[in-house]
Amino acid sequence: MASKPARYAVVGNPIAHSRSPAIHAQFAAQTDQDMVYDRLLAPLDGFVATVSAFRAEGGRGLNVTLPFKTEAFRLADSLSPRAALAGAVNTLVFDGDRVLGDNTDGAGLVDDIEHRIRLPLAGARVLLLGAGGAARGVVQPFLAAGIEHLMIVNRTADRAHELVRDLGARLPAADAARLSAGGFDAIAGSVHILVNATSAGLADASPPVPAGAWSDVRLALDMVYAAQPTAFMRAAAEAGCPRIEDGLGMLVSQAAESFALWRGVRPATLPVYAMLREQLAAARPSA
Ligand code: ATR
Repeated sequence: MASKPARYAVVGNPIAHSRSPAIHAQFAAQTDQDMVYDRLLAPLDGFVATVSAFRAEGGRGLNVTLPFKTEAFRLADSLSPRAALAGAVNTLVFDGDRVLGDNTDGAGLVDDIEHRIRLPLAGARVLLLGAGGAARGVVQPFLAAGIEHLMIVNRTADRAHELVRDLGARLPAADAARLSAGGFDAIAGSVHILVNATSAGLADASPPVPAGAWSDVRLALDMVYAAQPTAFMRAAAEAGCPRIEDGLGMLVSQAAESFALWRGVRPATLPVYAMLREQLAAARPSA
């Protein structure tokens, strides 16, 4: 008798619009994996119970999205070094009675920049806007990719200083030395890659990047994605930035990294990115 397909899901609240099931279905078809991948809506006060029920039913792993990444971090029995540094978990692996927590978001961003966008990170000077969870998760993967310097700027400058102090104390000295922090008024020096990890776009606003900061920027990337360019992407276009991207590629690459953890095989991301981009464009209301 054929064995049952391995079960995975993405858990969040809300979850109805998650693209992860479509992404993982494509990965499974590509790599011939016998698996199913669903959406799981957890009550805001019921994350742990939802995970337990999924495991009891034989679930093998979960992706975790907003607002549960910190709860997933606490729930895991063991953490990958990158998840420990991120303070957040987006991938759970159920291994017998143990729960392993990982965070593939930063690796997804690095993979997207290096392999789809094809911009080398080694030696690059990166400016990261924002000091919340989204920013924190990408710091170590950027350092591991060999960037020369990462400056974290935040509307509330103290929060950026605090983040750099905290990460600096946990990282090897050579890595800590490549970090700096400040407010938007402290942005200085040449910047090659500008990444928006703020939630300013929720109010259709761009973080206040000073005009002078754009002069050497080769890539501006917004970590969120949308059918229309975000306010940050529009500001980048106005500043004459030569390459502007949203977070769709990061989404696909972080999923590929989770898939590889679960299934031991790495799927191709480019065709899946192309499919999602087409779907997004088709969903866009005509002007
Ligand atoms: P997340 O987990 O998505 O990073 P968060 O922890 O709430 O969410 O962080 C949101 C980030 O967006 C913060 O860096 C926030 O800046 P403050 O720390 O000063 O609040 C930033 N942010 C939100 N709205 C912004 C705006 N209009 N301009 C600039 N930064 C903004």
